[in-house]
Amino acid sequence: METTKKRMLSGIKPSGDLTLGSYLGAIKNWAVRADLFDCYYFMADLHAITVRQNPADLRRRTLEQLAQYIACGLDPEKNTLFIQSHVPQHVELGWVLNCYAMFGELSRMTQFKDKSAKNADNINGGLFTYPALMAADILLYQPDYVPVGEDQKQHVELTRDIARRFNGIYGDVFKIPEPFIPETGARIMSLTNPAAKMSKSENEDTGRILVMDAPETIMRQFKRAITDSDTENCVRYDKENKPGVSNLMTIYSACTGKSYAEIESEFAGCGYGKFKPAVGEAVVETLRPIREEAARLMKDKAYLESVYRDGAQKAGYFAEKTLRKVYKKVGFVAK
Ligand code: TYM
Repeated sequence: METTKKRMLSGIKPSGDLTLGSYLGAIKNWAVRADLFDCYYFMADLHAITVRQNPADLRRRTLEQLAQYIACGLDPEKNTLFIQSHVPQHVELGWVLNCYAMFGELSRMTQFKDKSAKNADNINGGLFTYPALMAADILLYQPDYVPVGEDQKQHVELTRDIARRFNGIYGDVFKIPEPFIPETGARIMSLTNPAAKMSKSENEDTGRILVMDAPETIMRQFKRAITDSDTENCVRYDKENKPGVSNLMTIYSACTGKSYAEIESEFAGCGYGKFKPAVGEAVVETLRPIREEAARLMKDKAYLESVYRDGAQKAGYFAEKTLRKVYKKVGFVAK
């Protein structure tokens, strides 16, 4: 069970249906590295309930997310895929790390500030201490890398600070992990508001594409995508002055592998009218095999169940080793 490969770990909250943003910013990056690393990926259902969820939707999305992970190329034979709440060590280490995460640090987290502004009637304790649980998710598995999009970098950095603080008191308990952020796709913006991140918790009108969206929906969304109000009408990468077009170029580049220079020359003189549907088509073709395979897997509940059961068992074995070490270090009496 032990391996000398470097380890990767990451998770996604099933708080909304998976978007093109989570695919390009995170999962795509996980799938290409599955052979080179010892990988752990999970559905962060414990994190999802920091915002109110409809129970039936949460259950469906958690399973659908597992089907999507597999459909994106994460072979359960080579990757440990599990549901966070099935491995109770996350909560146990989460509590310990709560006692090593400072109020000031937690107060500075951008996600906490954003989410508390959006859910003013439900600023609960879990929302505030979320990063300590996320630090536990990571540190339990002693990973080398944590592949995430740009927006999660701050949480991974806080994880590193907590780990260093803990190691400073008790010796080398935790490996200090590195965030692993893709060069293209780290921050996919909304198609209707290029100043805001494409987010899974928003509705369709907020310019998000879902991994399971039908091709017609995707094409419609791209045709409606905001381009910039400059008079130039030309496809050129300029994040500052042309954020809408630049976002579409990032999506096109991440889906086709073409560089920005190649994209600029491909659409030279064409204007936005031809560019927007071309991006839509590239996205449709990127997502099509994933959507079809995930839909097929969703019909095979027995298979999904065997995957998450095996995954929780493997993850739990590893997590328990770290947790025992931590409990001993802080002074708990062994069972
Ligand atoms: P979450 O569920 O918000 O997002 C999942 C992953 O997708 C990335 N992502 C994006 N990347 C580019 N552009 C976007 N528009 C976009 N939207 C989302 C995120 O950066 C993330 O990598 N707290 C985490 C879940 C988590 C976790 C962990 C991650 C819990 N424990 C431990 C890593 C390790 C979250 O809310 O991600």
